[in-house]
Amino acid sequence: MSLEQALHWDGELTIIRHDPLTGASFIIRLDSTRMGPAAGGTRAATYPTLAAALNDAAALAQAMTLKMAVSNLPMGGGKSVIVLPAPRKSIPPESWARILQLHAENLEKLKGSYYTGPDVNTNSADMDTLSNTTKFVFGRSLERGGAGSSAYSTALGVFAAMQTTAEHRGLGSLENLTVLIQGLGAVGSALVELTEAAGARLLVSDVDPDRIASARSIGLECIPPEDVLKTSCDIFAPCAMGGVIDSAVASSLPAAAVVGAANNVLADDTAARVLRDRGVLYAPDFVANAGGAYHLVGREVLGWNQYTVAEHIKNTGSILSEVYAIASVDEVDTDTAARILARKRIASASTGQRGLERPRF
Ligand code: NAI
Ligand code: PHE
Repeated sequence: MSLEQALHWDGELTIIRHDPLTGASFIIRLDSTRMGPAAGGTRAATYPTLAAALNDAAALAQAMTLKMAVSNLPMGGGKSVIVLPAPRKSIPPESWARILQLHAENLEKLKGSYYTGPDVNTNSADMDTLSNTTKFVFGRSLERGGAGSSAYSTALGVFAAMQTTAEHRGLGSLENLTVLIQGLGAVGSALVELTEAAGARLLVSDVDPDRIASARSIGLECIPPEDVLKTSCDIFAPCAMGGVIDSAVASSLPAAAVVGAANNVLADDTAARVLRDRGVLYAPDFVANAGGAYHLVGREVLGWNQYTVAEHIKNTGSILSEVYAIASVDEVDTDTAARILARKRIASASTGQRGLERPRF
């Protein structure tokens, strides 16, 4: 993908800034503010090219628009990508502090048309640091008055999505089903606890040897990362990075269903159809992983308490059932069905037919 191609999109705004001192580049892309201020996390990662990072930011921002709409949350979609000069672990603390300071200044310039939050390689402590300079941040620590980490809520939503998907696919309850979790980070490790408690047989994988060592120490069966997509399971749960399933993978993935937390799991436009044709039930990522958005927007914008957040997270199962019903009636794949539902909600909110809860900014 060329830089020119990466810049050609139909979103609302792209901001790019480079910092010669740390070597980091900053991208913020607002896909849509039609339903409310854009919201989406800050991802810090290395990328092969600036074009690849821009493209990722655009795709992630679009996914946030769909996630907010399908979940009936009064926000639009955006995303920040901080392009690191080296893997996060090897960025010196003083460079990271400067990177966060510059990112906070960028956020402040957007004057509230975009709120960020945690994502891959950023956490509540980083949100606390950003909030020293800007208030347009979700997911500060509880001590600093924020909603704290969204990871457990995300895992709860994925778990609810798994239960509904397993039933819909005719697999019954999760008890004794084989669930393969790719990525044992904040969300993946919480999902391990939830699925294990439900009696599933777990297989796990991670590229981080420390995470594999601790998984082994608690008796989990570990799969080498290169074997994950060849390993038979009932439910494959991608909880690492996106782009895991392209059409070729979809044509051979030995699973009955795919339900995970990773954003943008599908790598191309036909993967969802290939999965459908093979009878692999795919829970669209932006529906299954909305628990974190309920947690952050619910607590910090809508004034929900933890019980109201939990109710909405549980409702992920009903939204997914609606998606599966659309897929069946319209004879489309589930990703297309979820997009139809999201667009319908955007259209009805825009024409005032369906009132969204009033934000308290
Ligand atoms: P994290 O950074 O805590 O964990 C990611 C884990 O994946 C790490 O342990 C990493 O070593 C591992 N990993 C990376 N590449 C891998 C590979 N090829 N194979 C196996 N493991 C690999 O991230 P977190 O917060 O757990 O998020 C996971 C995914 O869920 C991300 O795609 C994120 O965008 C998405 N997500 C997270 C939400 C949250 O509330 N944290 C909300 C919605 C989506
Ligand atoms: N990054 C997470 C997601 O993709 C959590 C998040 C939600 C962050 C909403 C900011 C705003 O859902």
